[in-house]
Parts: sequence; C-alpha cells; structure tokens
Amino acid sequence: MAYAEHLGENADKERLCLVNHLVARQVMGVYMLGIYFSGTGNTEHCVSYFINQYGSQNKCVSIESEIAIQEIAQHDIILLGYPIYFSNAPKIVRDFISENKLLFSGKKVYIIATMGMFSGDGAGCSARLLRKCGAKVIGGLHLKMPDCIGDEKLLKKTVEENRALVRKAEVKISTAVAKLKNGNPDREGLRLFDHIAGLLGQRLWFYGKTTTYKQKPNVDRGKCIGCGKCATLCPMNNIAIANNQAVSGNQCTLCYRCFGHCPTKALTILGKEVYEQCLLEKYR
Ligand SMILES: Cc1cc2nc3c(=O)[nH]c(=O)nc-3n(C[C@H](O)[C@H](O)[C@H](O)COP(=O)(O)O)c2cc1C
Ligand code: SF4
Ligand code: SF4
Repeated sequence: MAYAEHLGENADKERLCLVNHLVARQVMGVYMLGIYFSGTGNTEHCVSYFINQYGSQNKCVSIESEIAIQEIAQHDIILLGYPIYFSNAPKIVRDFISENKLLFSGKKVYIIATMGMFSGDGAGCSARLLRKCGAKVIGGLHLKMPDCIGDEKLLKKTVEENRALVRKAEVKISTAVAKLKNGNPDREGLRLFDHIAGLLGQRLWFYGKTTTYKQKPNVDRGKCIGCGKCATLCPMNNIAIANNQAVSGNQCTLCYRCFGHCPTKALTILGKEVYEQCLLEKYR
C-alpha cells in the first residue's frame, strides 16, 4: 500500500507537514543524522550512501562510537540502519534503543534494514521499540545486500553477483531519498502484513537465537596465532587474548566482524567451516 493510501484522506496534509518539516530543519541547519550498527560493512555503506544522497551536510556515526549519544541528542531527524539477524534487529541494536529511551523521545526516525534475503518486518522490529520511546517513525527501507554468514554455504554468491546486489541497493536508496524529500517515504517493513510475514517467516521459529547474547565465536586453536585483531574489532568486547590464543566470552551479538577479519580463518560462528570471509569492501 502506498504511503498516501495508508494515510487516507489526511495524506496530503501529512505529506505537506513532512516536507515542510524536512525543509525547515535543513534551512535552520538541523540536519539528518545517520546512525548504524554494521558487522561486516553492508549497513554502514547503505546508511552513508543514503545520508550523502540526502545532502552532503549530513553525517553518520556508528552506535559504537563514543559520540553517538551526543550526536543523537543534537539531531531531531535520525536515519537508523542495522542488519537483520533471523528476521529481527540485532540484540546490540535493540539494547541500544532500550537503554536510551529518553534520547529517542520526540525524534523523527527513518529506518533502513539490510538483509541477505528476507525479513518481513525488518524495519518494523525497531519501529515498535522506537514508538514506545515516543519517537515518530517516518519511513522504512529494506535493502538486499551480500549475505554475511560466511561459514554456511547457503545464499553464497559470486563476487560479481554481490557487486551487482550492492549497485542495485544504491539505486534503490537514491529513489528512496527522492521519495522522502517529496514527502512520500517508503514504508517497507512497517505495515501489519509485514509484521505477520516477519513473525511467520522466521522469528517464530528462530526467536531464541536473538533473545540473548551468545557464547561465540568458536576458535580453532590450531589456526589462531593470537594476533588480537578479533579482540580489537569486537563491538561487544567479547574476545580476550590469553596465552597467545583468542578466548570467547558469552556476549556475542553474532555480527561476523571477527570472523571476516581473522587473518588465519580461525573463527566460526553459526557454521563449522570458513567458506568466505564476507566483507563489503570486496564487493565495491
Ligand atoms: C546471525 C545472522 C542472521 C541473519 N539472518 C538473516 C535473516 O533472517 N534474513 C536475511 O535476509 N538475512 C539475514 N542475515 C544476513 C544479514 O542481514 C546481511 O548480510 C546484512 O546485510 C549484514 O549487514 P552488515 O554487513 O551491516 O553486518 C543474517 C546474518 C547474520 C550474521
Ligand atoms: S584474529 Fe584470528 S588469529 Fe588473530 S587472535 Fe583472533 S582468532 Fe586468533
Ligand atoms: S565475537 Fe565476533 S561475532 Fe561476536 S560480537 Fe564480537 S565481533 Fe561480532
């Protein structure tokens, strides 16, 4: 259903309001802030691309950054991006929203969810949380990107196919930015039908996989050289180095960043073998 239909007879009024609001904020020097969580680079790329298309004065920051909170407090239009894990938002993202409820109160939030194939209501998963914080969700966009689960063969594509996926997502982002500026933003993942699809498609069956942080990654002691790269990069500080070996804790959010960067392919997470270390930089 188009946004206009969704709004019914108030569509023109609502649209005008949104356009006025967006233009007024730009004129006043209050711009859109992109915030994101990204394990292997897909979501970071999509959020940056969206923000650049929206206007070069806007900026992006990871939710892992020390200045994220301060930046969110200073902006009232937020673009939030995250990858989909088992048709849900990553636990690190859900916790970030829940721990900063007051921060999101009164914000206008546009949501981007990136995924390897399907999520149903990927954007809706955080939209429901954000509305509880008093935020207004102004749009949702689902972007198909390279699948990052490199220790499972399923869904693996060639480098060329993945490059084509990234280019297609960029085109979709450009269109979405134009629609937002015209006051007719995409509403992907935000409708009731999407919610049902997300629930029945995966979340009902895999819910347990995203409710808690996990005891991961698995470390192959024969391959690990104790370089510490995984420990430095982990957004959860979930890896320590002891006796020249990586040691996992139980706070893994399943982001695959350590997996993708390990120089000796010593880590696995959901699968048992390293097929491909999927990182966006290979597909650009
Ligand atoms: C633990 C896990 C679960 C995933 N579940 C889904 C899923 O349910 N549906 C889907 O389409 N993609 C799924 N993916 C793929 C990612 O959503 C996709 O590759 C995403 O773009 C990665 O973004 P990033 O590079 O910003 O981390 C999953 C990835 C991981 C690591
Ligand atoms: S990045 Fe790989 S080799 Fe380096 S410490 Fe971590 S698991 Fe070991
Ligand atoms: S341990 Fe690896 S997969 Fe888990 S959160 Fe840290 S970087 Fe991500």
